[in-house]
Amino acid sequence: TDFDTFIEGLPKAELHLHIEGSLEPELMFELARRNAVAIPFASVEEVRAAYAFSNLQDFLDIYYAGADVLRTRADFHDLAMAYFTRAARDGVVHAELMFDPQTHTDRGMPFAEVIEGLLSGMRAAEAQFGITSSLILSFLRHLSEEAAFATLEMAEPWLDRIAAVGLDSSEVGHPPSKFARVFAAAREKGLRITAHAGEEGPPEYVQEALDLLKVERLDHGNRALEDEALVARLLSEGMTLTVCPLSNLKLCVVEDLADHPLDRMLALGLRATVNSDDPAYFGGYVADNYRAIAKARGLSREDLVTLARNSFTGSFLPRETVARHV
Ligand code: ADE
Ligand code: ZN
Repeated sequence: TDFDTFIEGLPKAELHLHIEGSLEPELMFELARRNAVAIPFASVEEVRAAYAFSNLQDFLDIYYAGADVLRTRADFHDLAMAYFTRAARDGVVHAELMFDPQTHTDRGMPFAEVIEGLLSGMRAAEAQFGITSSLILSFLRHLSEEAAFATLEMAEPWLDRIAAVGLDSSEVGHPPSKFARVFAAAREKGLRITAHAGEEGPPEYVQEALDLLKVERLDHGNRALEDEALVARLLSEGMTLTVCPLSNLKLCVVEDLADHPLDRMLALGLRATVNSDDPAYFGGYVADNYRAIAKARGLSREDLVTLARNSFTGSFLPRETVARHV
């Protein structure tokens, strides 16, 4: 329809995308074959059938298992290019890719292979599709502070090619306070700051992300809405929220998309954006997320334009580049 064409044609930035979460079952099989890695699935259909989650941890278990087929620099290049090829069709002109180095270095992959493969895919995507991109190094919060420090140290030779640090994985029981010192060290190195907070975790975790990590944007942030004073603070700070509707549905953060708070966020004046999180696992890329939430909550074209504009103002692009996009 016209509405779908409008969504796809809207130039947008994607701010919340785990590149490992864009590994489609087809590529998983191809890499398993190429690298002679055994996977516990007989077919692409069987893989897709296993993607039924009742919470974040359910998903993470299968997501980390899937990442095991990624073994070489070329694999990371191909993974990134597959994402950009798909994102180009959705009107993505800029993407800030989160990657989880610990998922790979803990399996014995050199950090250099992971990041050089991604950077190579990012260069190819800019040449082929004109999509600009940057990297967000995300620490796994279920692992220790010490492990996060070791990861930051590994990244040292590439700091000029990493825009920001982030925090992801199992939220409940791993509050932002656990990583306050690592994030302070990252800030001192000139890295920008984001963190997942308020996806499953309570509003207090969002507060900690602001106070202790000094986040410049908030990944998810849904549960911040439970605390009126916190909402007022997010408003006054002009905080960007990277919201992921289909992820929220698949991970049971919302029971139904009809209950999703995205339009409430917009009505409150919060700078919400729409993103795909882990598109291969949650059944849709960024335009699918725009479409699904627009339909479920009756968003107007004006709302969609606001969401797309927020994706640029909330990006880590230089101000003058943002100005060219909004
Ligand atoms: N890692 C990949 N996707 C994630 C999500 N939605 N929340 C936390 N960690 C993640
Ligand atoms: Zn995420």
